[in-house]
Amino acid sequence: MAKRRSLSRRTFLRLLGGTLAVGVGLPAEARYIEPYALDVTRHTVPLPDLPPALDGLTVAHLTDLHRGLVTPDSVLADAVAVTNALRPDVVVLTGDFVQAHYRDAVPLARMLAGLRPRFGVWGCLGNHDYFIDSNKVTAALEAGGVRMLRNAAGEVAPGLWAVGIEDTLRGKPDAHKAMEPVPRDAAALFLTHNPVGVFACHDRPWLALSGHTHGGQICVPFLPTPRPPGMQGFPLLAGWGVFDQARLYVNRGVGMGMLPLRFRCRPEVALFMLRRGEGMPDPGPGLAIRAFHTARRVAGDARDGAKKVARRAGDAWRRAQ
Ligand SMILES: [Fe+2]
Repeated sequence: MAKRRSLSRRTFLRLLGGTLAVGVGLPAEARYIEPYALDVTRHTVPLPDLPPALDGLTVAHLTDLHRGLVTPDSVLADAVAVTNALRPDVVVLTGDFVQAHYRDAVPLARMLAGLRPRFGVWGCLGNHDYFIDSNKVTAALEAGGVRMLRNAAGEVAPGLWAVGIEDTLRGKPDAHKAMEPVPRDAAALFLTHNPVGVFACHDRPWLALSGHTHGGQICVPFLPTPRPPGMQGFPLLAGWGVFDQARLYVNRGVGMGMLPLRFRCRPEVALFMLRRGEGMPDPGPGLAIRAFHTARRVAGDARDGAKKVARRAGDAWRRAQ
């Protein structure tokens, strides 16, 4: 009998430990670790109409910054710093700049003004940007140096265009108007906050970039991944999709909507290298290799920090002699 009681106590303690680990550890990870664990994904994208002079051009893609109460400013500042460290030629931003109020666009635009790619920063609006006043959000971002494309296009560099449409859920998208200035044989980046916008450019061999899904944001095993509004039936929540001639990338985004949680869905900055040619995008190294490179970067930063501390301590010691 005594043995049976001992076994049941051990089992009880194991169950209690497991429950505590799951009940406390996973929510803490989702609240305090994962939202800050920015993931840099790298991709190579062939574009048949890319001018030879632009072969190798790099594009950084950030989306769903959601400046406001839910996303800490430190996450946004980190995303800007990481993007600058990647030294992209172009930066594109695909909407949901603010969570719920246009006033958040002003401090966000100040942060984004720190981005300095040689071919500029280009953006389109997301559904959250329309909640209060999309014109004021647009004005604030443009004052910060972002070229906002609302059913419009602009030439990024000779032979490469950026095309942006209004949000498919809250705006009045007009892809025909947006694409009108683009020569038929030009390469383009097609910016649509909602991935469903890709259907408007499916007959062009372009790179379509979107967000909106946050990759699901909270991806609990064995439970359905949350789907945002306005994309019922759409097959893709994150990553690459091929839609006739267009290649679509759905970015998991930087910020968070509704809940300040991310689980099994890290925030993302995507970097694309454009190559002149045919074929499918190369999705780049997997999570394990990215984690290795992140660990190496963190270790390098720590080593540099330790060297600085040692140098300062040495200087202080010499001054004291
Ligand atoms: Fe969003």
